[in-house]
Order: sequence, then structure tokens, then C-alpha cells
Amino acid sequence: MAFFFCLTNVGLEKALKAEMQDRFPKWRLAFSAPGFITFKGEGPWPVPVLARLWGECVGKGEMPGCTTIDFGPAGVWSVHMQTPEPLWKNPLQLSEVVLPPEAPSRAWMKIEEAISLFDLPLKSGETALEVGSAPGGAVYSLLKRGLHVRAVDPAVMDPSLDVFTSYRHIKKPFQELEFDEIQGVDWWLSDLNLAPGSVLSHLGRLLREVEKPKGLIITLKIGKPYVAAEVPEHQQRVREWGYRRTYTRLLPSNHQEVVLVALR
Ligand SMILES: C[S@@+](CC[C@H](N)C(=O)[O-])C[C@H]1O[C@@H](n2cnc3c(N)ncnc32)[C@H](O)[C@@H]1O
Repeated sequence: MAFFFCLTNVGLEKALKAEMQDRFPKWRLAFSAPGFITFKGEGPWPVPVLARLWGECVGKGEMPGCTTIDFGPAGVWSVHMQTPEPLWKNPLQLSEVVLPPEAPSRAWMKIEEAISLFDLPLKSGETALEVGSAPGGAVYSLLKRGLHVRAVDPAVMDPSLDVFTSYRHIKKPFQELEFDEIQGVDWWLSDLNLAPGSVLSHLGRLLREVEKPKGLIITLKIGKPYVAAEVPEHQQRVREWGYRRTYTRLLPSNHQEVVLVALR
């Protein structure tokens, strides 16, 4: 019998337990504190979607040959981490990203955390397109980095963005985008509050028409546990589009969603 730990975002504990029960039923709940959950079981180690950090939980306190992590209210535990790179230096996998007061939305945090964790080489002068862009937190981050941004959303964008001359709002559903609107894009972002399977089907269709962007940053909404089970398939699908490096990760600012990053 082994023990497995997961560190998740506070508020996601129920969703993570449901994911574990659905995908890894041989692992039973052992201990639960806000953001920190352990499971006992045997067989292959789980690879959860809704966790920031996970691995073997050796025991409470400091033990030789283990990584010791102070989980705050949950106490100090000895673990063997299994989360793949990249990782932040912070042992709890928290970012140091702080939302600026003028950002149009908290989605600014998501893009800044993704850029920071995956060290994404977004450069001034490049072009980004975001589908599901309103009110514009991510667009603001990209504009401040000097990118040209096409923001696609039928909803209203924050009027403060109008001061940027390199910004264009395409006010329609992304399914209706036309060739001249999607060509010449370096970075394609998607932050739609729609089911990931349908988002990826439409994205795949659109991306077939153009030269592939160098990077994709896609938020996958995990409304139900079975959607978490589909995440590895989504990652494989994106690889088949020609993206050799793909990552999925729960970011500290994510809520019922994870990011899928793909690089050519
Ligand atoms: C989570 S919000 C996006 C937040 C945004 N990325 C930001 O930085 O502020 C989801 C957005 O998806 C948009 N959306 C939903 N269906 C859409 C569609 N078919 N095409 C484009 N946008 C859509 C909604 O209008 C909503 O603004």
C-alpha cells in the first residue's frame, strides 16, 4: 500500500477528488486539508490533471532521502515529487504574479503565469489572436508586451484597450472567423467557456487553413470530472497538428480549468 499526495488550488478539492475517483478508482481518499489531499492505493501512480504538484507521500515530518515540503496548515511532509518540468522555484508551485489594478480581468494572471512557467518566447512585434477575449485581461498583457493583438469575442471588450493602436476587436463568434482574420498569427490563445472537445474540433478546422502559429495557449474548462479524463486525448490531438512540445498544467490562478500549451 502506497500513499499519493496532490496539491491543488483551494476550492478545487472536490473536483480533484471526483477526478481521482473517476480516473484512478484504486486510489482511495486518505487525508484532506484545504488544497492538500492524500490517497492510498497501489498500482501505477496517478497523473492527475487538477493538481499543481503531486507525487509519492512518504510520511509526515522529515525523512531521509525525501523532499520535505511545508504544506502550511496541513503540516510538513516528506515526499517524492512526480510532477514533470517545468516547475516554479516555489515549493508549493505558487507564482509571484500579481494582478495590476488596471488589468481588465483576472485572466491577465493566467496568461502571465503560463508565459512565466513555460518561459514562452513571446516577442514584441509578433501577432497574437485570442478567441474568448472579453473583457481583455490576456489581451492587455499581450499588448503591454508589444504584440499586435486580434481579440475575438462577441462580448464587449474593456474600452481602456482602445488606446493601443496594435489592437483589433473582431466582434463575432470564433467559429465564424475568416481566412484573412486568422492568417499571419504567431501565438493563438483560446479562453472560451465552452466544452474543450468542441473548442478543439473548431480550432483544428481553423488551423488547417493557415500556416500553424508557433505556439498555442488553450484554457481547457473542466466542468465535470469526465472532462479531466479527456485532457490527455486533447493533448495528443494537438500533437497531431504538428506541435512537438505540449504541456498541460493547473496554474495557481486557474479555477475549474487547466492550461494546454503547445509549441512547434
Ligand atoms: C473566461 S472569458 C474570457 C476572458 C478573457 N480571456 C480575458 O482575458 O478577459 C470567456 C469568454 O468566451 C467568450 N465566448 C464564448 N463563446 C464564444 C465564441 N463562440 N466565440 C468567441 N468567444 C466566445 C465569452 O463571451 C467570454 O467573454
